[in-house]
Amino acid sequence: MLAIPGFVDPHTHIPFYGERSEEFALRAAGKSYVEILKSGGGIYSTVKKVRGVSIDALVIENTKYLEWMLKSGVTSLECKSGYGLDFKNELKQLRAIKKLSEKVPQTLISTFLGAHAVPPKGEKAYFTELIDMMKVIKSESLAEFVDVFCDEGAFSVESSFELLKLAKNMGFKIRAHAEELSSNGFASKAAELGAVSVDHIIKIKDEEISTLKKYGTIALLMPTTSFYLKTAYAPARKLIDNGVPVALGSDFNPGSNTFYSPLFVSHLAVNHLGMTPTEALTAQTLNAACVLGIENEVGTIETGKNADIVILDAPRLEYISYMPTNEIVKAVFKNGKLVTANE
Ligand code: NIG
Ligand code: FE
Repeated sequence: MLAIPGFVDPHTHIPFYGERSEEFALRAAGKSYVEILKSGGGIYSTVKKVRGVSIDALVIENTKYLEWMLKSGVTSLECKSGYGLDFKNELKQLRAIKKLSEKVPQTLISTFLGAHAVPPKGEKAYFTELIDMMKVIKSESLAEFVDVFCDEGAFSVESSFELLKLAKNMGFKIRAHAEELSSNGFASKAAELGAVSVDHIIKIKDEEISTLKKYGTIALLMPTTSFYLKTAYAPARKLIDNGVPVALGSDFNPGSNTFYSPLFVSHLAVNHLGMTPTEALTAQTLNAACVLGIENEVGTIETGKNADIVILDAPRLEYISYMPTNEIVKAVFKNGKLVTANE
């Protein structure tokens, strides 16, 4: 057996509601993610579903996903809003995260992603509403991070920059969905602003990499989304070889990726991002904990930290990415307590 630190997933879209398997079939038949988004589907379709249910329904549905994740060894993770796109429903999602964290064993870190898609009222009018939301979220401590989806079909570089700047001045930690679908230079702009991580960065330009290194920004890569959307993979090797810290996450969500297992993330990281098995494990534990600011509590097995430990039926570290099935997860300890045991 192999004992490793509990996996930390620093980027998920929990809590969401409902499913989008019809879109998956459309994409398999040739439609693109952006085409579906621009025609009012994609994120907007999940927004309709989330708006239509109570906070309790959200909590019940997402408890299931958190249980699945626990069984695959995830002991800490990030959760975020972004499927409300208005005051009431963004807050509903963040309050659901709070309720979930009282219900499940995992440590949950909360992010406000009100800027996930532009609602019909337009970017300008919505921007004012986002600022009002941030004030309430700050006063009720409902989120540690503010995130923005700065991309084609989502928020412009200008508004994204302004929003993160305001969020930072209000005392939030900031991060960004950057350069997932288009090469718009936002990864380095967010880094200069002090973003803790820039996430996806599949289309990051070579000249931006030195900016990430300069500011100590963590590159958070999610190869499951590339696999799911059949797009390119992020330049992990180039980032690592140029001294940029790399973390890995799942991006678990109902549209662009439904894989949540850290074992599969590890497989893709080694096989498609060119990371070594050791780099992958570090990126899914210690570096992921650094993104969430919980590196003093979790992320390694050492004296003084919480005993978040996963026991794998694996003869060596390399086995994780080689045999990426949940069946190898034999026991999960959260804070020294056994929370999952698989036969
Ligand atoms: O990280 N890129 C934006 N958001 C998600 C997708 C969310 C969705 O499609 O529902 C992502 O890929
Ligand atoms: Fe995402």
